[in-house]
Amino acid sequence: MKVAIFSTKSYDRQFFTAANSQHQHQLTFLEPKLDRHTAILAKDATAVCIFVNDEVDKDTLEALASHHVSLIALRSAGYNNVDVEAAKNLGIKLVRVPAYSPYAVAEHTVGLILTLNRKLHRAYNRVREGNFSLEGLLGFDLHGRTIGIIGTGRIGTVTAQIMTGFGCKVIAYDPYRNPQCEEIGVQYMELSQLFSQSDIITLHCPLTPENHHLINKEAIVQMKPHVMLINTSRGALIDTDAIITALKSSQIGALGLDVYEQESALFFEDRSDRIMQDDTFARLMTFPNVMITGHQAFFTEDAMRAITYGRLRQR
Ligand code: NAI
Repeated sequence: MKVAIFSTKSYDRQFFTAANSQHQHQLTFLEPKLDRHTAILAKDATAVCIFVNDEVDKDTLEALASHHVSLIALRSAGYNNVDVEAAKNLGIKLVRVPAYSPYAVAEHTVGLILTLNRKLHRAYNRVREGNFSLEGLLGFDLHGRTIGIIGTGRIGTVTAQIMTGFGCKVIAYDPYRNPQCEEIGVQYMELSQLFSQSDIITLHCPLTPENHHLINKEAIVQMKPHVMLINTSRGALIDTDAIITALKSSQIGALGLDVYEQESALFFEDRSDRIMQDDTFARLMTFPNVMITGHQAFFTEDAMRAITYGRLRQR
């Protein structure tokens, strides 16, 4: 099968080439992201392989269909960047990562929690400059604190398991209860209760039209003062302007993001020598209690293998 792989980075090339060694698919590695303007690059392909910031709207799909592309393989679990209905109407099949390593994202989530709580990012810089002052580095014991998990699928469940190990009380909101979570003592409740009881809130649900800006002004006022908020799921679950206001008033005490609403214009590229044009992102970067990673949570060897081998086998 001829596969056009969009948004290719060196690591995609490495893992896909290794995974393909026994399959002999004809892989074309393309650096541009897929959108209505670049769809023509797939003109000789039967399938396209895309990542989280490729824009597969109706126009892109129509362009792909006109080039006889019949399959879109997502190397992600989320598929909010694809117009699923339009794909169905055009007879284009979609496949996504079937069994992501949930550990990659859950462990990264816990990394953000620990870093923000114990201010490891600040301590690292201080010690390198010979500053051993503890001023401003005060954290709290995770043991005994309440963590609220929104979305208890694969990643949310592993996060619950890890945080249980820390001695946290784990509460959750999900339209569907997960018996695996209930077995380890996770208490399900309504979202408003989760907001008012959690010391730490972490998002692990997919982005859908219904939960766009789930964390907005109205949600934030229900939260405990100085709550820690973590988002390793999808940027648009959070209203970033509302978050900035809450950071300024200390209603939000710490923010850990692996995803950002406008990330497609920023993430996955070295932009260190360019002027930052996104004023909202620039403002976020000024807070000492904000830690942002660039959609990195999935990036472990194990998860990359799950993405590439799983994808090719599913054909
Ligand atoms: P999953 O499908 O196993 O679980 C999602 C859970 O969210 C389900 O239990 C579902 O019932 C629940 N849910 C759906 N709508 C909800 C809502 N409005 N409120 C609360 N819960 C809701 O998905 P998985 O594998 O756990 O992934 C979760 C999300 O993590 C993905 O949708 C994706 O957006 C994100 N992700 C981020 C990555 C990263 O690198 N930062 C990598 C992989 C996934």
